[in-house]
Amino acid sequence: MTSHEASSTPTVSITEAPPNVTVLQQTPQLIALYTIIRDIKTQRADFVFYSNRIIRILVEEGLNHLPVQATSVSTPTDLTYKGLKFEGKICGVSIMRAGESMEQGLRDCCRSVRIGKILIQRDEETAEAKLFYEKLPEDIKDRYVLLLDPMLATGGSAIMAVDVLIAKGVPVERILFLNLISSPEGIDAFAKKFPKLKVITGFIDEGLNEQKFVVPGLGDFGDRYYCI
Ligand code: PRP
Repeated sequence: MTSHEASSTPTVSITEAPPNVTVLQQTPQLIALYTIIRDIKTQRADFVFYSNRIIRILVEEGLNHLPVQATSVSTPTDLTYKGLKFEGKICGVSIMRAGESMEQGLRDCCRSVRIGKILIQRDEETAEAKLFYEKLPEDIKDRYVLLLDPMLATGGSAIMAVDVLIAKGVPVERILFLNLISSPEGIDAFAKKFPKLKVITGFIDEGLNEQKFVVPGLGDFGDRYYCI
């Protein structure tokens, strides 16, 4: 690397986004993690490890958006501490296959959390999302739902998944969508369709290419995490 390249400013996320979208703070650590997972030379073991680091940060940020209520506890010094506790039950829902990669990060923060699955695949020719399968916790309509998918390209898969959750009676304002990389087009379509649903994304990229892949992106997340 030349000294010019080394000193050039790193590319950070687009920050202009609809009001229901939170973009992770673009810290040097986060940018360094994204640099590793975007690199075509990164092998699967490192891709998994460093994606998991970002997933953990996303989950931690997501939990900050859940409602809390006041509670007090007595400490061993015989005093009262006025604190907070989470209000309401949660569950995770992953959009298979790539979304399953985010389940462990959620479990690491929320022990024995219930997790539902929705299998949605993009048609490789048309990039249109198709629903194949869903299996969700029975009482999902009474829970806050953390919807998990690392990539948001056209937004078709995530929109379809939210439609499934709504059909199951989940109020849209109780859904949080956690995502590693999104396109401005996908974020716009998704956030406008569901303005009451909170989106936490790590990075809004430049756009979509002709195959409707996010660019510069990182390629096919599911392939890189599970197969390549
Ligand atoms: C990818 C990705 C998202 C979807 C994003 O999944 O994981 O689910 O595409 O694209 P969209 O916003 O245009 O719908 P894919 O269907 O390739 O399946 P995979 O999870 O098995 O890789």
